[in-house]
Amino acid sequence: MMIGRRVRLRPVEKDDLPRFVKWFADPEVRTHWAMYMPLSQTQEERWYDRNLNAGDTQTWAIDTQPADMAIGPWVHIGGCGYHNIDWRNHWGEVGISIGAMDYWNRGYGTDAMQTLVAWGFYTLNLNRVQLRVYADNVRAIRCYEKVGFTLEGRLRQENFSNGAYRDTLLMAVLRSDWGQVVA
Ligand SMILES: CC(C)(COP(=O)(O)OP(=O)(O)OC[C@H]1O[C@@H](n2cnc3c(N)ncnc32)[C@H](O)[C@@H]1OP(=O)(O)O)[C@@H](O)C(=O)NCCC(=O)NCCS
Repeated sequence: MMIGRRVRLRPVEKDDLPRFVKWFADPEVRTHWAMYMPLSQTQEERWYDRNLNAGDTQTWAIDTQPADMAIGPWVHIGGCGYHNIDWRNHWGEVGISIGAMDYWNRGYGTDAMQTLVAWGFYTLNLNRVQLRVYADNVRAIRCYEKVGFTLEGRLRQENFSNGAYRDTLLMAVLRSDWGQVVA
């Protein structure tokens, strides 16, 4: 379990999968992801089983307690994690989704990403954390900038969505930069 300021990250359980299915059924959530089709419960279960055995992947559920400082029940609001971890070169790629849309824009994504990056630098011994984000996802880009990610590259018209091409941005933060940006 990793504890952030407003969220905790914990391993995903099978009981969580129906919520991921529900969130990814929403086109508004999915438009920001490379995965353009909704996932069935069966596909989610296969993904879960694959992840359990993958040495380059770590997936976490994001929980929060709705009212700040409350000692109430934790609510599952999304997921995040590392994939494509390159253990030799000490870098990993991250992804995040706050699936519950009523939790967007309230700082949970930034806190979850800060917690995930700290885990990468201080526990996994990564030197570099990178991510890909579509150029029209201004909320996500702002969130990543607050965490300390900077723009490294632009893959022009790499993705086709809603009848038009859009650019994919490559952003990264190095361990030597980490801590210099305060959200
Ligand atoms: C992207 C995501 C993780 C961000 O998490 P979040 O909790 O919503 O974001 P935060 O509240 O921590 O930060 C969002 C920031 O973007 C800003 N923002 C939101 N909409 C914006 C807009 N249209 N233009 C500019 N800034 C915007 C917010 O004001 C906030 O910045 P501030 O704190 O400086 O005011 C979350 O919204 C999400 O999961 N979205 C759907 C899936 C997705 O996009 N995943 C990422 C794929 S790369």
